[in-house]
Amino acid sequence: MENNSRRGFMGKAFGAVAGVGAVASLYAMKKSWDPLPSVKAAGFTTLDMSGYEDNVLVTEKWRGKPIFVLKQSPKMLEKAKANPKDLERLIQVGDSHFIVCVGLCTHLGCIPGYRPETEDFLCACHGGMYDGTALVTKAPPPRGLDIPPFKIDGNNLILGEAGDEYKKMKETGVTL
Ligand code: FES
Repeated sequence: MENNSRRGFMGKAFGAVAGVGAVASLYAMKKSWDPLPSVKAAGFTTLDMSGYEDNVLVTEKWRGKPIFVLKQSPKMLEKAKANPKDLERLIQVGDSHFIVCVGLCTHLGCIPGYRPETEDFLCACHGGMYDGTALVTKAPPPRGLDIPPFKIDGNNLILGEAGDEYKKMKETGVTL
């Protein structure tokens, strides 16, 4: 009898611990499903552009796609200024210049890697290369990395909304 009630107590205690564990793991699972704080409803992602460092590639996410954000260093900006095709791809927010593009190779969709030492992108799948503004420097990619719709709002960049700067890029063929 005593044994039975002891077993009953142990069973309840174990059940309680397991229950707490299950709730905790459900909570953790739900947290990992929740969108990041920067992701808003209706497919927009707002990026605070004041937090990026020169020549450090950051991969953000928008509508399930990787979005490369690369703040240009003064040296990179000088290089871009030498080529109008590079310069027109840059997005200016405050005093800083960025390339913001979809991080999928325009050849067959691999994710190119950024090389800060040479300030360029290499797509390991077939050896395609892009410069620091993600313009093609070596085939087979047919064009530079695409620029997603964006709108500048103060220090923020809203991905998914087509602002004037983006519309101009579309009109002039800077991006598809
Ligand atoms: Fe990038 Fe082919 S997918 S070079």
